[in-house]
Amino acid sequence: MSEISATGSAAGEPARHPLSMETLVSLCASRGFIYPSSEIYSGIAGFWDYGPLGVELKNNLKAAWWQRVVRERDDVVGIDSAIVSHPRVWEASGHVEHFSDPMVDCRTCKRRFRADQISDEPCSVTKKKGSVQDCDLTEARDFNLMLQTHVGASVEASSEAYLRPETCQPIFTGFKRVREASRSKVPFGIAQIGKAFRNEITPRNFTFRSREFEQAEMEFFCHPSEREKWFESWREARMSFHRAIGFTEANVRFREHAQDELAHYARAAEDVEFLFPFGWQEIEGVHDRGDWDLTRHSEFSGKNLIVTDEETKERYTPMVIETSMGVDRTCLALLVNGYTEEEVQGEKRNVMRLTPELAPIKAAVLPLSKKLSEPARGLYQDLARRMNVFYDESGNIGRRYRRQDEVGTPFCLTWDFDSAEDGCVTIRERDSMSQERVSADSVLNYLRDRLEAAS
Ligand code: GAP
Repeated sequence: MSEISATGSAAGEPARHPLSMETLVSLCASRGFIYPSSEIYSGIAGFWDYGPLGVELKNNLKAAWWQRVVRERDDVVGIDSAIVSHPRVWEASGHVEHFSDPMVDCRTCKRRFRADQISDEPCSVTKKKGSVQDCDLTEARDFNLMLQTHVGASVEASSEAYLRPETCQPIFTGFKRVREASRSKVPFGIAQIGKAFRNEITPRNFTFRSREFEQAEMEFFCHPSEREKWFESWREARMSFHRAIGFTEANVRFREHAQDELAHYARAAEDVEFLFPFGWQEIEGVHDRGDWDLTRHSEFSGKNLIVTDEETKERYTPMVIETSMGVDRTCLALLVNGYTEEEVQGEKRNVMRLTPELAPIKAAVLPLSKKLSEPARGLYQDLARRMNVFYDESGNIGRRYRRQDEVGTPFCLTWDFDSAEDGCVTIRERDSMSQERVSADSVLNYLRDRLEAAS
């Protein structure tokens, strides 16, 4: 596995240490961020479960996206659609015809590979012999990536349906309804976050290429004369989001698609790429989809999806600028970005430098001794009504700090033997490890100010 230097994302001076995916995968499982789905049955390739910390991180990321893309804008509205659509949707969208990868089978080990990846991944039998040349491969043929299911009790062709391979198609099929219901006028956008499914031939790199994953997508409808302007505007908005969640110029960049790389629906596309331990890889796409989707759904459904400009009376099909962020890939990038190893007074310290907005636990309440658990629990319960806090009274205080550092908790609150007398707790900040005494009554405001200032 190749290695890069882990970088810190927040203030402070993180030491630079190499991070391997093995280290991250093992930390994610042992601390309850992410682990294989159906693990006690040896897992199922391409499916992952998020544990107690992972679900908080993922929810915080989705909330940050929703806040900036939907709530802070007066030109974007949100929806939450069904995962299964009418099968004609996927004919209209072009997925039945075009959504495939070239695939080859190996007659020796009976496994299936992506034809464009066989050079770096020989089959398990030939791997022992050490050469891809030893694979006994079939000719490449197209393999559709959509996951099929049957709706209702029968398993006839008429009951076949697909689990959506992208979340945006119900945005297009619901375009007229949502525009009218929300009284939106072009230019405006419709956003949704949800599950998508792709029968990837070779899921790999932890959650990076999964078969079930989440997307946060926004489709922005505009007049044809404004498509370049909106493409540029969304491109900038998305990069500023990635900076706000902690990525830097050193590990996030744009990469423009060459004409022969473009998806069947795209006229232009740029990937937001992150520098993973396995190289620069896409975490989000910004696409100019033109009028492909609305025109096709109009044709296939027979419904008119044209809009009329109230002033000029011009009738036209809006163009679509899409931003499509992979939630799981971005979570993975956040964990890679945050993972830091440093040395403090001769001892190794692991710190997950997540921004306070994204950190799974905002503060940990730690009584110095179990004898102090009653008042400390009281403080914990007060705070728990407002934010995700954690209570821990086991082990020495240094070890408890380290456990919180490792999962990214920005603040630790220690209730000590002076607290009952002076009414104060010690607040320790994760990155600088600085400590200050703060009145227990004002801890909530203190935390809110710090969390808000950092977001
Ligand atoms: N609606 C456009 C669309 O789906 P895409 O580039 O195929 O575009 C968008 O996917 C994002 O979804 C990607 O940038 C990636 O972050 C995420 N994604 C795609 N396939 C994925 C997979 N197999 N596993 C995890 N995330 C995936």
